[in-house]
Amino acid sequence: MNLVLFGPPGAGKGTQAKVLAERHGVPHISTGDIFRAALRQGTPLGLDAKRFMDAGQLVPDAVVCGMVRERLRERDAERGYVLDGFPRTIAQAVAFDEMLSADGSSIGKVISVEVADEELVRRLTGRRSCPVCGAAYHVESAPPKVAGACDACGSALVQREDDSEGVVRKRLEVYNAQTRPVAAYYQDRGVLQRIDGSGSIPDVLDRIEKALEDGGR
Ligand code: AP5
Repeated sequence: MNLVLFGPPGAGKGTQAKVLAERHGVPHISTGDIFRAALRQGTPLGLDAKRFMDAGQLVPDAVVCGMVRERLRERDAERGYVLDGFPRTIAQAVAFDEMLSADGSSIGKVISVEVADEELVRRLTGRRSCPVCGAAYHVESAPPKVAGACDACGSALVQREDDSEGVVRKRLEVYNAQTRPVAAYYQDRGVLQRIDGSGSIPDVLDRIEKALEDGGR
């Protein structure tokens, strides 16, 4: 399965991508997670990306594309992947096409998860994440069993620095200006399927699976 999960910040891409990747036996490749892991390790990539992430801006295309190119060459991605958070500019989409054609492959399915702006703000400002295993929660809609602690590994949950309301609104602005046009790019090529991302997490998952069955590659 070669799937791109597309959508605004807070649409639920990460939540759904984790489950889909496990179910379908392919890696979940999240560019945001790669940057956060690099930052935890204190690498130059992580420190450089942090400046953009904290401001709600996109990391420069050349940095992101080089990183994704390397990641897709890893052995586990030979079976396919669920990409989450890439591509998010037209330049990234074009570079992605070039990466795929260099490997004799082509774009699989792009599923756009659509959610109203105010719900995105609610989801992101209420999100808590595990800094150790990356699991995501929401204080109201997906709370951990024990308040403030990760169900999977027991670590103390944190709020991402870019989940404050001011930065969330900036991220939505950047999404509308730079990322939304990527949906039209894929629509024109007949690979985009839009699904309603509102409602419960299992309901959204069902919609994605149905979209995959509908001629999914
Ligand atoms: P990234 O980490 O990719 O963030 P994002 O795309 O902004 O997406 P999020 O992780 O915030 O949201 P999500 O859609 O995954 O939602 P989630 O499932 O967590 O990127 C961060 C930054 O890195 C960017 O701003 C940029 O600086 C940089 N970057 C990354 N990729 C880049 C690229 N390609 N180019 C340039 N820069 C890049 O869910 C959110 C919350 O909602 C959770 O609390 C969850 O529990 C809850 N939730 C999920 N589904 C539901 C539901 N159905 N109902 C109720 N609550 C729900």
